[in-house]
Amino acid sequence: MTQEPFTTRINKVAATLEGHSDFSSTVLKDMMTHFRFGKEITDDTANTEVYRVYKRSVPTVAGELLQCLTILRQGSVRREFFMTRGHNHSDKGCAEIYQGVTGYGLVLMQQENRFEIREINPGTSVYIPAGWSHRTVNTSVEKDLVFYSVWPAQSGYEYDYVTRYPFSKQVVEDIEGYRLISDNESW
Ligand code: PA5
Ligand code: MN
Repeated sequence: MTQEPFTTRINKVAATLEGHSDFSSTVLKDMMTHFRFGKEITDDTANTEVYRVYKRSVPTVAGELLQCLTILRQGSVRREFFMTRGHNHSDKGCAEIYQGVTGYGLVLMQQENRFEIREINPGTSVYIPAGWSHRTVNTSVEKDLVFYSVWPAQSGYEYDYVTRYPFSKQVVEDIEGYRLISDNESW
């Protein structure tokens, strides 16, 4: 099946990708194992949205490109900022670009035991090299972080990778804005 030309539009006001074909929403109860104090997520907060993704699908074959818009809400679990689950691509030869649209935050990247962190904001795009797992964190206490992503259609998702090689740092709210915490550190 060949892909015909099409247009999408990032609507900053409505925070949506016009022309999307898929939508997903991730809530706190889906992320109990991702937050350090995930066990403290109560029935009252279980259905709070952490992020939503609008995606435009194309045939998942080499040469085509997928794109999506992620809206990562402002919030925290015991001061650990809201973040995406994080994943690597099943095809380790596939890189990705994240472009900030509104708000700001961090992109955490990990390749086995190597850890890197980059800021993302409306003037900045982050290049995630092939083979690096990636997670985004909203470090604002006021606004959603919205970013646009483009990646090869054959990439696939490997969510288990971040269980085998967990991100080396957690990101928590701090007087300075945010602080990076190691596994054996408390806050
Ligand atoms: O393709 C990507 O890397 C992004 O679009 C993410 O899938 C999105 O931000 C949601 O994160 P995750 O897939 O880790 O739940
Ligand atoms: Mn990805």
